[in-house]
Amino acid sequence: MRNEQRVHWAAGDYDRTMGFVSRYGQDLLEWLEPRPGERILDFGCGTGDLAAKIAGSGADVEGVDISPEMAERARSKYPSLKFHCADGTKWRPDRPFHSVFSNAALHWIKDAEGAARTIADCLLPGGKLAAEFGGAGNVRSIVDANFTMLTERGLESGFALPWYFPSIGEYASLLEKNGFEVLIAMMVDRPTALEGEEGMLNWLRMFGEGLVPETERAASEAWLRELSERLRPKCYRNGAWQADYRRLRVLAVRKA
Ligand code: BEZ
Repeated sequence: MRNEQRVHWAAGDYDRTMGFVSRYGQDLLEWLEPRPGERILDFGCGTGDLAAKIAGSGADVEGVDISPEMAERARSKYPSLKFHCADGTKWRPDRPFHSVFSNAALHWIKDAEGAARTIADCLLPGGKLAAEFGGAGNVRSIVDANFTMLTERGLESGFALPWYFPSIGEYASLLEKNGFEVLIAMMVDRPTALEGEEGMLNWLRMFGEGLVPETERAASEAWLRELSERLRPKCYRNGAWQADYRRLRVLAVRKA
């Protein structure tokens, strides 16, 4: 099973084409309730848009992301904020935070235990975690169509999805095991429009490279094009692409 995290990203393209990721994350800010003077960490901060939004509340915000391209772009967009480039399963801050915020990042970290341990260690006792990421069944159409392509070619054995999509029970248990009390956990279906005639293909190019089995990596583009076409009957309606996103949203506090 592949367990590595994806590290390298085309951060400029991400900002240009995937802006909906941080737009959706704004709902989660209501759970965070940032206050002036609080120290807040954006875990998996990407290009920093939500960290900047949180900083607008007067909180003292830092971000951490494993991708050097993302962290560098965040620094150049928001030079007054501090962005760390580090592996979120291993990094430890100099000083703990009042809250940790994480949007659309935790599904990229297959070592979920390592991430939960880091988040717990980043928080003061009583500190808050507000997180949202892909839950069990997320992008099921894409996952299923890819599995069909794998099985048709006899390539399914040993293949592991590049993402971590837990159920509520699984994730709440993981948080409890790592010193949290879970206050709210909910699964939300969120069909997401993928803009443009090549919306699905562009999404797959940006996020789906790990769907291509290693033996087919030299012909990744052909794999992703075929996958996109197979998804057309289910995910392209009335001239628009849609992905069947399913979000797990969690509010938890670190026990004293
Ligand atoms: C998501 O935001 O749900 C997601 C993004 C990329 C890959 C898989 C899921």
